[in-house]
Amino acid sequence: MIEIKNLQKSFGPKKITRGLNLEVQDREFIAIIGRSGEGKSVLLKQIIGLIKPDAGQVIIDGEDVTKLKGAEQQKIFTKCGYVFQFAALLDSLTVFENVGITMLENDIPPEQVKLKVIERIQSVGLKPDVLDKYPSELSGGMRKRVGLARTLMLNPKILIYDEPTTGLDPITVRRIHELIKKTHDEQQTTTLVISHDIDIFNYADSVAMLFEGKVVYKGPTKDIWDSDNPYIYQFIRGLSKGPID
Ligand SMILES: Nc1ncnc2c1ncn2[C@@H]1O[C@H](COP(=O)(O)OP(=O)(O)O)[C@@H](O)[C@H]1O
Ligand SMILES: [Mg+2]
Repeated sequence: MIEIKNLQKSFGPKKITRGLNLEVQDREFIAIIGRSGEGKSVLLKQIIGLIKPDAGQVIIDGEDVTKLKGAEQQKIFTKCGYVFQFAALLDSLTVFENVGITMLENDIPPEQVKLKVIERIQSVGLKPDVLDKYPSELSGGMRKRVGLARTLMLNPKILIYDEPTTGLDPITVRRIHELIKKTHDEQQTTTLVISHDIDIFNYADSVAMLFEGKVVYKGPTKDIWDSDNPYIYQFIRGLSKGPID
């Protein structure tokens, strides 16, 4: 379970996270929404320890991870896999090297790495023939899949995606959401997805909405269409269409 309690973060005079509370249960799939610049990415980075909060706690499985220092902080990265907004692949490395990088750096024999990489590449819906390609030879959707395959190599219990569908066409958006859902079910992870895309509501269990540095709404996705919560109402109305099929 992830328990975020009274989390606060400012950059200079600018208050971004202003006493934010949120609980995410084990195996929950939660979509996090909010306007651009609202502090969604800053929230995720505080969960995984890339940004230290000024105050408050992020308790993962009973441990306040904001208190971890130095080498101990690595513990968070083995528990929480972070899939970056732009797949962040290394252009000079092949797909095989990108996905297998951590194992290769730890001197695990390449044949052994290859078996694991092939398994992961297939689990994200790619064929092994992409292994020798370079990121520049892949489509946007394929790059996102490779980024996810790399994150899955560490078998994280918690998967965190920061706007995984930015810059993709609507059909690819849907395919990536299907992949996120399939991965959530197969790997039995807790899944947090920041998204602008209403299609995520077809897959997530719950939604949390950020506004002025706090969570102003959290509830099951099925309830949001009828919600009279003013923030949710406005957010949904701002989007052009209603629930998809
Ligand atoms: N490392 C940083 N230093 C200073 N300001 C930052 C930093 N990271 C984010 N911000 C600011 O915090 C605000 C929230 O950013 P962000 O979390 O990226 O928004 P979003 O909800 O779009 O993901 C923005 O105004 C951004 O400029
Ligand atoms: Mg962001």
